[in-house]
Amino acid sequence: MRGQLLKPLLTLMITVLLFVSFLTSFIWYTQENNNVQPKRSSPPKKSAPQSSASCKDCRETINKVLELYSKAWTKEETSFQKFRLQLNTKCHGFEKATITQKNTPVGTKLVYDGERKRALQVNPELFSTFYKGHPFSNKTWHTCAVVGNGGILANSSCGKMIDSADFVIRCNLPPLSNGYEEHVGIKTDLVTANPSILLEKFGALMGRRRRFVESLRSYGHSLLLLPAFSFGRNTPVSLRAFYTLEDFESPIRPIFFNPGYLQSLALFWRSQGLRAVRLSTGIIMTSLALELCDNVQLYGFWPFDVHPHSFQTLTNHYYDDRKTKTKFHAMPDEFNHLLRLHNLGVLKLHLGDCKAEGK
Ligand code: CDP
Repeated sequence: MRGQLLKPLLTLMITVLLFVSFLTSFIWYTQENNNVQPKRSSPPKKSAPQSSASCKDCRETINKVLELYSKAWTKEETSFQKFRLQLNTKCHGFEKATITQKNTPVGTKLVYDGERKRALQVNPELFSTFYKGHPFSNKTWHTCAVVGNGGILANSSCGKMIDSADFVIRCNLPPLSNGYEEHVGIKTDLVTANPSILLEKFGALMGRRRRFVESLRSYGHSLLLLPAFSFGRNTPVSLRAFYTLEDFESPIRPIFFNPGYLQSLALFWRSQGLRAVRLSTGIIMTSLALELCDNVQLYGFWPFDVHPHSFQTLTNHYYDDRKTKTKFHAMPDEFNHLLRLHNLGVLKLHLGDCKAEGK
């Protein structure tokens, strides 16, 4: 009797066990798949160039900018002279943009433009690193090209046009070889270097320095402009760059930004309605060019990630996709000011393909 009762009980228990195990496997299977699938279908970090169809919103933003961009550009001499005079009266870039032995004698108190509480008194040793004479040879140039690093320069075929300028200004030691020449040119008369590049790429110049000197070969005999007195931490590394170039007898001529000039330029742009914690290198060099040159042409200025004509996705720089620190710079706002100057005929802003422009 007991045996007769046990048999169906055992069968029931085995059936329940089998059912529970099937249910667990089923739940586990569906859960796993739910975890995996979204990962598989998540978009790649860097999206592929977008076609015009998939970029409706950016098209609208870009179209708004392009509506303001007058293509048939002519220089307006009166507007140009007016703007140059304003810059010259408020900032004196021609005489004061860089530190020279003439404008900064021993004993001068240099106030750091990025750290207004910090100052440094010029002693004879520091004075000996200052540029002798006038770095811009006391004359104005007929045409200057200011080359920003925007991704818009990639495949632009602007190299020849840039190199045809009498004076070419570049920002932050950008690469010029390995196929970039055709689009960005090679002529360089002045190149800036942010000390962060010296820290990151060349170990703050604390070790072997030959690689740094060799990396500057592509800039020929140009001036290397360093913001040595903008922040306290910039000074030692900028001086090390100076001594390195001197010791290796490099043809590059290091020179320092005058913090007084940078401060007056920041106030000037603030008075024009620009609100940025720090001006970008590009707008600083454009402002200086407007004092030094009769015709100022800008290339590589486009702080948007979509090309204005092809609507392809752009990298931030023509050589990498390192992003701009939006905490400090107000690039799109700066761009609006440059666009305004373009439309006033004060400077010429090149957007896109230079070959197509030349037709
Ligand atoms: O050091 P900073 O961020 O000022 O400059 P950069 O990224 O080395 O680029 C040099 C300059 O090109 C900038 O200061 C901008 O004026 C300009 N630029 C631009 O207009 N659009 C971009 N997408 C990147 C740079």
